[in-house]
Amino acid sequence: MSDRAGDYIVGLFGAEDELLASLREEADRTGVPPIAISADEGRLLQVLLTAINARRVLEVGTLGGYSAICMARALPPGGRVITLESNRRHAEVTRANVAQAGLTRLVDVRVGEALDTLPALEADGSAPFDFIFLDADKRHNDTYLDWSLRLSRPGSVIVADNVVRDGAVLDGDSADPDVAGIRRFLERLSADPRVSATAIQTVGTKGYDGFALALVGNGD
Ligand code: SAH
Ligand code: DHB
Ligand code: MG
Repeated sequence: MSDRAGDYIVGLFGAEDELLASLREEADRTGVPPIAISADEGRLLQVLLTAINARRVLEVGTLGGYSAICMARALPPGGRVITLESNRRHAEVTRANVAQAGLTRLVDVRVGEALDTLPALEADGSAPFDFIFLDADKRHNDTYLDWSLRLSRPGSVIVADNVVRDGAVLDGDSADPDVAGIRRFLERLSADPRVSATAIQTVGTKGYDGFALALVGNGD
């Protein structure tokens, strides 16, 4: 049922141009796993970016550039997506895809472990970001939240993917470090007075999962 409803929603709202569709299909050819956000999730990111007039976007976890391209397309001229990726091959594939999309000037792919590349964003004047999308190794999500708060301003929006994982997030004793990381992240997010946040469960073309969404406030 949920897959059919997911297909229905994607059919209505997830129209992909040839480029995005080809990214989704290229997994076998490029060795990039087929775990990009779905087409309707791409639309969600675009709606959010447009709603807040985002110009500066940070992504942690690039893969083949599907979500980065979606976000770059929602930016005004002069906007920028900085996206962090530890896997050299994924970064190379992304650069090629971004070039094909004609977005090279808007998308800056930085290769390295995010924990190593995040500090430079503070030093080089890239921050504050208007929008931050966390979608890399979930075990570090709580640390990525700390960085997100350092690199944002009141009014910034932080979104994290994969916070439900087929319900695995319910298991407080899970031996899976990614589940433990998501739980630490959600617990911190729910208790941090600097953000107004929630999480939503999603079903559909990517199975049963969820997004966390947070609006950064001024701490009042
Ligand atoms: N946002 C992408 C999907 C990202 S998949 C999209 O929707 O199109 C997760 C990506 O995070 C993978 O490419 C993986 O190589 C990368 N990653 C995993 N651990 C990382 C780390 N510590 N630092 C940076 N990138 C990491
Ligand atoms: C995985 C990672 C993702 O970001 C995602 O959306 C789906 C799956 C994974 O590591 O399996
Ligand atoms: Mg994801």
